[in-house]
Amino acid sequence: MRNKLNIGLFGFGIVGTGLYEVLNKSKLLEASISRIVVKDPTKKRSIGTELFSFDKNDILNDASINVVVELINDSEAAFEIVKQALKSGKHVVSANKKMIAEHFEELIQLAKENNVSILYEAAVGGSIPIIRNLEEYYNNDSLSSVQGIVNGTTNYILTQSNFGVSYQDALKKATELGFAEIDPTLDVDGFDSKFKLVLLIKHAFGLIVEPKNVFNYGIRNIKPQDVKYAGEKGYRIKLFSRAEKLNDDVVGFVAPHFVKNDHFAYQVDNEFNAVVVEALFSDKQLFIGKGAGSYPTASAVLSDISALQFDYQYEYRKTTDNNVSELEDDFFLKVYVGSEFIESINEIPFFRIDEVYQGGDYNYQIGWVRFNDIKSFNLNDLLDLSLIVLPEPFVASNQTEKLKRERIQYLSELEN
Ligand SMILES: NC(=O)c1ccc[n+]([C@@H]2O[C@H](COP(=O)([O-])OP(=O)(O)OC[C@H]3O[C@@H](n4cnc5c(N)ncnc54)[C@H](OP(=O)(O)O)[C@@H]3O)[C@@H](O)[C@H]2O)c1
Repeated sequence: MRNKLNIGLFGFGIVGTGLYEVLNKSKLLEASISRIVVKDPTKKRSIGTELFSFDKNDILNDASINVVVELINDSEAAFEIVKQALKSGKHVVSANKKMIAEHFEELIQLAKENNVSILYEAAVGGSIPIIRNLEEYYNNDSLSSVQGIVNGTTNYILTQSNFGVSYQDALKKATELGFAEIDPTLDVDGFDSKFKLVLLIKHAFGLIVEPKNVFNYGIRNIKPQDVKYAGEKGYRIKLFSRAEKLNDDVVGFVAPHFVKNDHFAYQVDNEFNAVVVEALFSDKQLFIGKGAGSYPTASAVLSDISALQFDYQYEYRKTTDNNVSELEDDFFLKVYVGSEFIESINEIPFFRIDEVYQGGDYNYQIGWVRFNDIKSFNLNDLLDLSLIVLPEPFVASNQTEKLKRERIQYLSELEN
């Protein structure tokens, strides 16, 4: 039997208006919006004013409303709204990755205690149905990695950089197109991608990790020389949110990566998002779609609302407990480090250097670094340095024999 859903909507911006329209167009759904709470009483609205209110309690204290859809752009206020809604026995649908990632443990607990659902498909990858797939489809398949482009703004800027468009111009355009966050550092420094990664890690591997412990390095420092290097080597640069099993541990972080033309992400351009899931029996599977924008994001919200008709809730079956866990940070990865200044590159403690280039106005070094060492730098603020991860698989800290052997060989070749 379908539940009749009476929705209280918070926010009538890009996603909120999109939801209002797609909900009106989808005749099959037994759901209607009975109240919309927004912030600014002076703002002109695209629909009549009857449904609007500016007091959150007009939704939260209304016993006839059984679903709260939270689509506001203030994560602190969103947390208060969502918390109160769950405590009042209302189901919640949200697109707010920051709010969920920062309060994951508490929100899951609150939903459980009050026997209601909190669903957030739109919070990761916009229109891509990745959360529910990780939750349901891959339950019995042993997942080894989840990797994706989950931020439309940075993918748009990186795509445009291939055509010589400057970082500032591309960011301005992404803002005009409505997919950049109000605070662009959330996008360009990889915070938005990190919040989404936190959600992916929970549904892929069952771990709750705290955003502050997850490394995020964005695209602000990428220079035209790095883009040129990528073009010469047949690479493109993509910002990945990445988590994978390394032996019995889970490693994960956000950073720019070089990808070759045979990689899933090579052709994923502009505001499109894509996630690849790798599992023991199904091998690699690619999900691709619009990661932002009014209708695409609203479509994921609509899907969550639709699932509530059938009492759907995430079961978090991969979880052994709902406590905060740690990612493994002791492993090695191969990186490119570029800078105008050789001294800046020398700050990075390479475990093994494979290639050094010193040009007149730009220099780079390629080699293996310990992730723990990289994590200790605040790379987003080191504007004269760009670090980009190369495609080689990670090496666990107890499997560095090969790296060491090759390093000795490299050093002896240098001496001869
Ligand atoms: N835009 C996208 O493509 C996209 C994609 C995926 C996820 N999301 C997420 O979806 C959410 C909404 O994003 P958006 O782009 O639609 O934002 P937006 O266009 O900036 O609209 C935000 C809305 O929130 C309302 N609001 C702000 N603070 C409020 C408060 N304290 N109480 C009630 N209403 C409040 C604003 O009211 P006023 O209208 O009165 O100013 C506005 O209607 C965010 O969490 C965002 O991260 C967005």
